[in-house]
Amino acid sequence: MLKDTNMGSINNANIAFIGAGVVGLTTAAFFANKGVKTIITDKNRNRLQSISHGDIPFYEPMLDELVNNVLENGNLVIEYDIINSIRAAELIFITVGTPSLPDGSIDLTQVRTVIENIATVIKREPSDKTIIIKSTVVPTTTSKVIYPILNKERKNESQIDILVNPEFLREGSAVYDTINPHIIVIGSNNGKGFDILYRLYNQIYHNQINKIPIIHTTWENAELIKYANNAFLATKISFINTIANICSRIDNADVDVVAKAIGLDPRIGPLFLKAGPGYGGSCLPKDVIALIRFSQEIGYEPYLLDAVHKINEYQPEEVVSMAKKMLGSLNNKTISILGLSFKKDTDDIRNAVSLKIIASLLKNGSKVKVHDPKALDNVKLVFGNNIEYCTTIRDCLENSDCCIILVDWNEYKTLDANYFSIMREKNVIDCWRILDANKLDNINYRAIGRN
Ligand code: UGA
Repeated sequence: MLKDTNMGSINNANIAFIGAGVVGLTTAAFFANKGVKTIITDKNRNRLQSISHGDIPFYEPMLDELVNNVLENGNLVIEYDIINSIRAAELIFITVGTPSLPDGSIDLTQVRTVIENIATVIKREPSDKTIIIKSTVVPTTTSKVIYPILNKERKNESQIDILVNPEFLREGSAVYDTINPHIIVIGSNNGKGFDILYRLYNQIYHNQINKIPIIHTTWENAELIKYANNAFLATKISFINTIANICSRIDNADVDVVAKAIGLDPRIGPLFLKAGPGYGGSCLPKDVIALIRFSQEIGYEPYLLDAVHKINEYQPEEVVSMAKKMLGSLNNKTISILGLSFKKDTDDIRNAVSLKIIASLLKNGSKVKVHDPKALDNVKLVFGNNIEYCTTIRDCLENSDCCIILVDWNEYKTLDANYFSIMREKNVIDCWRILDANKLDNINYRAIGRN
């Protein structure tokens, strides 16, 4: 049963988030905005310190407002000590990262460490706790890794429930998605844990709760739903990128027209059919590979997922070969890249296509100039002095031989012939088909998915 949480000190808070990344911080701040006293902790002290000053360590629209509100009213408590957080909380949300090992399989180190910390606490001080796994974990992680660690230390008198509650929010619209979830998935091995979490969501989403589909299922299904969801999204993207590459090799074809038409078939649907330079980010690439490795480990070769991954690995090279075709050779050519983040409205460059394209251009002897509204500093950490960083689009285009629009940031959508006139050679590659071709007189314009 949830206690009344309208009190100020950490001892009275009963919900903790372990992991202050996009998922942890956004969800914690949202809960706190709904009046739930929430603790957040992270192994990275600097990250917590900057959050405590209202400084969000990554760019996520609307998140700073959400966090600052609850720091001010005391509903979000920053706690530096993970053990204190665990001791204080009745419900513990695990929102740490599950990155890839070198072979692409899931690295559970952070999850395991947190679970071991929880086990230590419940051994010393038996108490009822509900552990909610929001981190993405491959099927059977809960039954084979998490449950045994906790069960070993559990004293008979304490009730420990473990729930798998995957997250479907997108970076760049994390706050919106948290306020408006399209689904709530709760995996449990008994009814009691489910009831506890359902009551919390009922309190938080209130009148809205009846409109949100709730899937109550097993741990394994909940774990697999998350992977199947991301793998299916990746499959749609690799599929449409395949169609795009076919379109660009024939006359009078346009991938957007094809995507619009097939998207009208209700069995297909219109979303995630935008062809581009390939999917990036901290989730889709990692989760597809982790699912491939997991599937192989249990004796099944997932050919489809392998193809999805390979198509995505190829797609940045499609962009580089478009540039090569336009310029003859890339050696000693100046290429301007507009857009570096893995998608618009974020400064995240994890697995961003830009990194692969810049590396390939440098290898081919090009000089690279880059612009991005948010991600310049992050890219500087990767390429240092090897490329030129421009704070204005104009600087980036000046004396360039080819411009590649790699991210569909809003500020690039209005670029026209006038803007491109400061280039040395007026070659433009539009990876998302965001420019108006009628405003590009005298520009050598190519787009993915069109000839
Ligand atoms: C993805 C999922 O969309 C979320 O539901 C999930 O919660 C999240 O991963 C996660 O597992 O945490 P995210 O990585 O934030 O969210 O970004 P997406 O919006 O899915 O975009 C991923 C990549 O696909 C981007 O590089 C984007 O440019 C690309 N994309 C997206 C396309 O190439 N075409 C499209 O039609 C859509």
